[in-house]
Amino acid sequence: IQIHVPMDSGALSLGAEQVAQAIAAEAARRGVEVTIRRNGSRGMYWLEPLVEVSVGGQRRAYGPVTAADVPGLFEADFLQGGTHPLALGLTDEIPFLARQNRLTFARVGVVDALSIADYVAHGGFVGLARAIRLEPAEVVREVTDSGLRGRGGAAFPTGIKWQTVLNTPAEQKYIACNADEGDSGTFSDRMLMEGDPFCLIEGMAIAGLAVGATKGYIYLRSEYPHAHRTLEAAIEAARRVGYLGANLMGSGRAFDLEVRLGAGAYICGEETAMLESLEGKRGIVRAKPPLPAIEGLFGQPTVINNVISLASVPTILARGAAFYRDYGVGRSRGTLPFQLAGNLRRTGLVELAFGVTLRELLYDYGGGSASGRPIRAVQVGGPLGAYVPESQFDTPLDYEAYMAMGAMIGHGGIVAFDDSVDMAKMARYAMEFCAIESCGKCTPCRIGSTRGVEVIDRIIAGEDRGRQLALLDSLCDTMEAGSLCAMGGMTPYPVRSALKYFARDFGVDETQAA
Ligand code: NAI
Ligand code: SF4
Repeated sequence: IQIHVPMDSGALSLGAEQVAQAIAAEAARRGVEVTIRRNGSRGMYWLEPLVEVSVGGQRRAYGPVTAADVPGLFEADFLQGGTHPLALGLTDEIPFLARQNRLTFARVGVVDALSIADYVAHGGFVGLARAIRLEPAEVVREVTDSGLRGRGGAAFPTGIKWQTVLNTPAEQKYIACNADEGDSGTFSDRMLMEGDPFCLIEGMAIAGLAVGATKGYIYLRSEYPHAHRTLEAAIEAARRVGYLGANLMGSGRAFDLEVRLGAGAYICGEETAMLESLEGKRGIVRAKPPLPAIEGLFGQPTVINNVISLASVPTILARGAAFYRDYGVGRSRGTLPFQLAGNLRRTGLVELAFGVTLRELLYDYGGGSASGRPIRAVQVGGPLGAYVPESQFDTPLDYEAYMAMGAMIGHGGIVAFDDSVDMAKMARYAMEFCAIESCGKCTPCRIGSTRGVEVIDRIIAGEDRGRQLALLDSLCDTMEAGSLCAMGGMTPYPVRSALKYFARDFGVDETQAA
């Protein structure tokens, strides 16, 4: 009998390890033979630790399970699918999961993360095999035609980025995977790396074949020790059987990769600061141009993509560009793993085609606020993303539609706040975050953010409000126009949206704020 217990760090933090041990001990005590398999998370964190039992080829879920629940589960004959207060029915039929479009996350939570046999049995390495048969330009065209755009947040067309690297002649090119997932409320990169590391490895190998790069780096934040261990073990396993190394799947073509750890700086998620850090220097932003696609790591042409961009590629190659671009709306093609966090009843990962609305995500999936109070504001796209008010909850999540309302989808982080939130404090926090995380290279960000905190403090205190509001507006203009990178350039987004839609929290009326 197979029992699945996640080893995702979210589940571990909720006691999954103790649950696995309790199951093993209880099974031994009763003389029942069980195989405990360790998968990633299904992304339903309010149900973690989520234990699944394979019964008649189908998986039945129980959760959230504590070690103390385990004897009772055995008593209720859960190994045969018995009823118990924690029984959730067939996992695939839980509405939160059943209504998703799981393409990139199809295997996450399902397979044993470190089993190549499992990966292959679930469609793994089909995309890589196809990429080996194609010319590099054909692989790039497939990705371009799929409509895939950068999932790290900037939404730049991935195929065009790859084309630039393919077109730039060099002895050595690189693939650099940005796994420095620093946005507040985001965890899709982590979930993917912990639950399906071979998918990222396959995506990077395909990228290498497409642009002529033989070496890749995963720049991983050090706050993800479980992802680190899983990636290292997966790379080693893939190398052993020829999915990485000098002779990819017997093709005679080479691609290998290694993991490098960051040291906890948000700015090292900015691509040029990441390159500096990868080169062993302090993470400071480089001026662009030159683009990293032309002069990147160690001065060589480099594809820099986020984990989810790269992990989307195996599906595109395996099932074709048309299959992928069939999902989505407008110029936002395919799916995005939205990450529900903050004050919601059901938090977790929801992979859906673009075009879903925030209201659907917050209520149909998230179940409304955890506190039971009305949801007042939602920060979409991390700490540099705008606060979206209720009046905009019905706008489809589409890169262009969000841009048109002065917001951004970014990396898909969604953090909900109920009506007890003080939006003036949130605006102040945005400036403070920028002041703490600024790399210090340019003045509008380094000095502007510190002055921004002071100005917001004066507005809140009611000191000379009219003048201070004008000053904040002008400061935001300077930061937006004059900052070298998105850190300083986008900090005004949360600040301005807070002021525009929640002016009374600053002690001003809407007309003054406008
Ligand atoms: P950007 O718009 O400057 O660049 C986007 C990407 O396209 C870069 O990789 C750039 O090198 C590339 N590019 C641009 N023109 C190109 C061309 N002609 N050929 C080839 N490549 C080209 O945006 P940036 O500064 O890289 O990213 C900002 C975004 O990062 C924000 O919108 C935010 O959503 C996101 N972000 C994500 C975080 C996370 O944790 N995932 C954290 C912080 C910010
Ligand atoms: Fe550094 Fe901030 Fe300037 Fe970006 S905007 S280069 S983080 S000082």
